[in-house]
Amino acid sequence: MGHHFSERERQIIYRVIRERRDVRSQFLPDPIPSEVLARLLRAAHHAPSVGFMQPWDFIVIDSLAIKQKMKAIFQKENQKAAENNSGERNDLYRRLKLEGIIESPINLCITCDRTRGGPHVLGRNSILEMDLFSACLAVQNLWLAGRAENIGVGWVSILDQDDLARTLQLPPDVYPIAYLCLGYVDEFGSQPELQTKGWRTRLPLHELVHHNSLGTPLKEGVLKTALQDQESLNT
Ligand SMILES: Cc1cc2nc3c(=O)[nH]c(=O)nc-3n(C[C@H](O)[C@H](O)[C@H](O)COP(=O)(O)O)c2cc1C
Repeated sequence: MGHHFSERERQIIYRVIRERRDVRSQFLPDPIPSEVLARLLRAAHHAPSVGFMQPWDFIVIDSLAIKQKMKAIFQKENQKAAENNSGERNDLYRRLKLEGIIESPINLCITCDRTRGGPHVLGRNSILEMDLFSACLAVQNLWLAGRAENIGVGWVSILDQDDLARTLQLPPDVYPIAYLCLGYVDEFGSQPELQTKGWRTRLPLHELVHHNSLGTPLKEGVLKTALQDQESLNT
């Protein structure tokens, strides 16, 4: 096969992408074997990065004391976040489960060291945030690898950055990109949980694809038809 993926392999990777879920409710206590966790971390480490900067570090957390601190940070922030909604929306927000910090066997913080590689990283002259974007790609690699290993991953972002940094002893130049909960699950939802619970639905892709400039919709034609056809098949 050389460097070509077969049709079957292609189908599998699209399936992993489609069936990846943000998980927070369905964690099982089963431990993640070290070799599996190592594969996930290696997948993350193989993410692309600006100038091959590899700005990430991975903090593997299994301490209940740290998880409890993080949960308390979440609860404080989530209380504030809930107040952004009123009426029925507020009730719905409060019913959503938005983290699985304690139940998941492993929490993982992926950070971005903004000084890695020195002051002149190739490709990072004009847009300094490129290091942050690179670290996000490590998160996505790990998320997809997790799905392929039948491990659920949930991103918890309702956290105060300073409290989080203090708890994990991050120095000032290290930015916490993602606080993740990892574990085996009893099921992966077929749709995003926010969709299932009536919070928000997936936008139609063909309305998000533009032609030559933002705001110019796709002309009727092969690409638009293909996008709509796939949408109707839910693929
Ligand atoms: C940057 C980022 C931050 C997120 N933060 C949270 C969070 O704090 N709590 C939560 O329940 N889900 C969080 N999510 C998960 C999203 O809600 C989820 O990705 C989205 O609803 C689509 O669902 P899916 O990932 O299952 O496809 C986050 C996702 C991203 C990419």
